[in-house]
Order: sequence, then C-alpha cells, then structure tokens
Amino acid sequence: MRQFTSVVLGAGGVGKSALTVRWVRAVFLDHYDPTIEDAYRRQVKIDNEFTSIHTAIFLTIQTAPQLEVTDTAGAEQFTALNEFYIRSAQGFVLVFSLTQEASLREVESLRQQIYRVKGTTVPIVVVGTKSDLTAEREVHRSHIQQLSQNWGLPFYETSAKRNWHVDEVFEDLVRQMRAQ
Ligand code: GTP
Ligand code: MG
Repeated sequence: MRQFTSVVLGAGGVGKSALTVRWVRAVFLDHYDPTIEDAYRRQVKIDNEFTSIHTAIFLTIQTAPQLEVTDTAGAEQFTALNEFYIRSAQGFVLVFSLTQEASLREVESLRQQIYRVKGTTVPIVVVGTKSDLTAEREVHRSHIQQLSQNWGLPFYETSAKRNWHVDEVFEDLVRQMRAQ
C-alpha cells in the first residue's frame, strides 16, 4: 500500500483539527483546544486503491505581515520551523476560515513558503472552513473562485460540523500526491 505524509497548515482557530478529526475519526470537535502537535493516520480506498495517509498538524506559526510579528529574531526562527514542517510532507492542506478574512492572507503567505521550499508542482488543496456559519461569513464565493483561478489550486468550502465536502479535500490531495 502506498503511504503519504501531509501537513495541515493555517492560522490559529480556523478549524484545522476539526477538519482532520472529522475525516479521520468521523466526529466533530466542538471544543477549542489549541494544537501544539498532533498526528493522525487513516487508510482509505480512493479510486479502487488503498492508501495510507499520515496527517500532521503543528502549532500555528503566523507568517502573514498583516498579522504583525514584532520580534524579528523570533520571526526568523518561526520561519525555519515552518520550513522543517514543509520539508517533511508530500502534500498540503492550507486552511482558512470563511468567517475570517485575515486567515486567507495567512494561506497566501504559507503557499509562497511552500513553493519556495518544495517548488510549484507540489500537491496543495485550499480549504475554507465553517461554511455552516453563514451569518458570520466574510469571504465570498466570488473571491474564492478568483483566487482559485489565479493560483491554479483547488478550493473547497467545508463544514467539519456538518461534514460537508470534507472527504473531497483529502481525496483531491491523495490523487495529487499519487500523480507526483
Ligand atoms: P489551532 O490548533 O489553535 O491552530 O486551531 P485549529 O485550526 O485546529 O481550530 P479547531 O479545529 O480547534 O477549531 C476551532 C474552533 O472552531 C472549535 O471550537 C471548533 O469546534 C470550531 N469549528 C471548527 N470547524 C468548524 C465548522 O466547520 N463549523 C463550526 N460551526 N465550527 C467549527
Ligand atoms: Mg488545532
């Protein structure tokens, strides 16, 4: 069976753990418990082939300048840590919250870091979470469609709570990683 390693990255509280746990364990994480480091494994049959996916989530390192990193030495260290995570993976899930416009800028910054480390043909899926919170939505679909075109990357709008479009995220990533 082929095995792949993926990393889920994105700003704090956007729903990285909830998304991953929904996919791996089929439950919704209602409580917010900030991640330091977690890893999950799931074996899944996609397109008639079993694959094992190891998914890691690390303490979020903010990189977007809009989110202000004041300590320069710290910022350099954090980038080195991000680079370490990025090197270790074959595929990436970049997560933002549809209810938080600023979290999308973090995704843009992470995308650039990944391209610097891994080149531009690396498997990436972009995910806007919390699509069930329609009244709190800040990122419009037209914006997402425009970014998806500009970046040439697949975007999914998910709800870990309602289990909307969660499988598609990981299926897409597995197909991309197989094709590498
Ligand atoms: P860090 O580990 O701090 O980086 O956060 P995270 O990105 O792992 O966020 P987490 O998955 O812990 O989710 C943060 C909060 O948002 C939790 O209270 C979740 O229950 C909630 N949440 C996550 N996904 C969804 C969703 O799809 N819908 C709703 N309504 N809430 C969600
Ligand atoms: Mg988490």
